[in-house]
Amino acid sequence: MRSARQSRPVRRRKVVMALEMSLLCLPSAHAASGILTVGEGTTAKQYSASALLRRPDVTRLDLSRSGEPLGASVPAVPLPHLVASSDQGLSFAATDNFVARIPPDVFSRARRDGTSAWIAIEEQPWPRRDGQDIGPFALVWTGPGAEKIDREQWVDHLAAITPGRDAKLPAATGSVARRGRDVFTISCLPCHRVSGAGYGTRGPDLGGPLPVSRRLTKERFDRTVRHPEQVRPDAVMKGFTAEQIPDADLDAIRVWLGQVGPATTSVTQPSQNR
Ligand code: HEC
Repeated sequence: MRSARQSRPVRRRKVVMALEMSLLCLPSAHAASGILTVGEGTTAKQYSASALLRRPDVTRLDLSRSGEPLGASVPAVPLPHLVASSDQGLSFAATDNFVARIPPDVFSRARRDGTSAWIAIEEQPWPRRDGQDIGPFALVWTGPGAEKIDREQWVDHLAAITPGRDAKLPAATGSVARRGRDVFTISCLPCHRVSGAGYGTRGPDLGGPLPVSRRLTKERFDRTVRHPEQVRPDAVMKGFTAEQIPDADLDAIRVWLGQVGPATTSVTQPSQNR
């Protein structure tokens, strides 16, 4: 039997070889994960990590105490230096189909209170999160208001930044439902569409084929949002605490989802109610 110590150097060599291979393959399909695209259509610009690291406006950030610790000296470029304008809001798409649409008022509030958005670049390996690589680019925030920026607005393994378009979500009737739709837009829309509207496809469409509010009891819905791992041991979704989304806001989301119609008209009845 081979001891662990004997087998380790062999494994390490394989890793180095795999890295060299992926560098050789860079201009091909692999490039997608190592390139940041900014803008749309013919004016879109593409950046590699090494190109961004060579820029004169690279600044070192101490992100060791932030909610999303990446290190004490992380190179980053100010977001406003890369995008023409954030007046219409911006969409940040990650490699895993997570799409955070950050509305203009988040940027204007940040400007007022001295909070800055940055594109952080992985130079020293970043810690893995849930066994996943989170580089080579991430949207991060610094300054007095950084802690108030929602978790869904710190974007790991960022792949593309585009002008924010309105997701054209289904209507909300009444102030509670409107509140629910607003909270949903920040915290849930990055992963979930509703009746076909939205950009994120990481999680299922909560509007259809059969609206989630009609399929799940209140108790089941609440548990899915608060403790997804209790509903499915392999859950991708991370639970939201009452501090992140107070009970009243969670109820408001349910009220709004109760008003939306299915994405399609042909609905097959599930065999059981939950
Ligand atoms: C990081 C991505 C992500 C975010 C953010 C997210 N979800 Fe999810 N959600 C998922 C995924 C993926 C699933 C499918 C089950 C799983 O793997 O966790 C899911 C499943 C669900 C389900 C169960 C759907 C069904 O058909 O049974 C509900 C309800 C739900 N999410 C509600 C929400 C609400 C409400 C929010 C915002 C407060 C939210 N989710 C935020 C990824 C996300």
